[in-house]
Amino acid sequence: MSRLIYLNDDYLPLEQAHVSVLDRGFLFGDGVYEVIPAYGGMPFRLKEHLQRLENSLSAIRMEPPLDRHQWLAIFTRLLDQLGDADQQLYLQVTRGAYDKRLHAMPEQVTPTVLVMSNPLSQRDPELVQRGLSVITLEDIRWQRCDIKAITLLANILSQQQAREQGAEEAILVRDGLATEGTASNLFMVKEGLIITPPKSNHLLPGITRDLVLELAMEAGLPCAEATIRVEELEQADEIWITSSTKEVMPVTRLDDRPVANGRPGPMWEKMDALYAACKKRLRQRNQASEQCYE
Ligand code: PDD
Repeated sequence: MSRLIYLNDDYLPLEQAHVSVLDRGFLFGDGVYEVIPAYGGMPFRLKEHLQRLENSLSAIRMEPPLDRHQWLAIFTRLLDQLGDADQQLYLQVTRGAYDKRLHAMPEQVTPTVLVMSNPLSQRDPELVQRGLSVITLEDIRWQRCDIKAITLLANILSQQQAREQGAEEAILVRDGLATEGTASNLFMVKEGLIITPPKSNHLLPGITRDLVLELAMEAGLPCAEATIRVEELEQADEIWITSSTKEVMPVTRLDDRPVANGRPGPMWEKMDALYAACKKRLRQRNQASEQCYE
């Protein structure tokens, strides 16, 4: 029996899950999403992901279709299928199917809600050791990058350009400022200071980004939210990118030139260890079977 996914109040095998061709997600990209990692069967930073989902929904003028307890019940049921394995929950809410293709938001429409869980692919240890290669690209996205919208064409085009140039990610640049990656947030280290761009409409408020800042502060590592000019990035001692699926990845090549000595740096090593410890605490808490929203 294949794994079940959640679609509009139902639990179904993937092959039996269907959405109308009139769905506004399909026709317009009119919807939002979340990717939530789960370790040892426990969603990681659940409260923060659900808060961002509510923010994204409110920004596109939608009410949350489910409350936090209902979300958790769905996640638990889906995660249980793979037990303690590390997983990633994918959650998508679109404005739903309406009987006409109409740009304006219809008044009476039922949202489409999809949740699925898949094994979380482990980071490639070789890549972690070598570090990522990134290129910088002009940010061709819109002015509301703070919304986790399913409309990702600009991200896809930029990611593809990076791949075609032999890199793993593109760092997007707007008005001379490096903001984030196509699917990740950006950090740099300069003279012992960890720096990430401040939140704005030009970047996604990453859950991993916030956690990294939190962990740095707890550990007494100096950190700051400040804009990063491309020229500053070129002079960085270390560059990292972060996301729920990549965690904290070192970047060792920028536009085909080595970052500092071209190897993952000591601050990254510290942060990677802090992040791993945080995941471990969540797993242990699950074993003590305590409900957790970390
Ligand atoms: N993307 N910026 C962008 C544009 C992203 O798409 C993502 C994550 C991030 C990092 O956010 P977080 O730390 O909350 O995962 C930043 C997800 C993983 C994706 O689209 O698959």
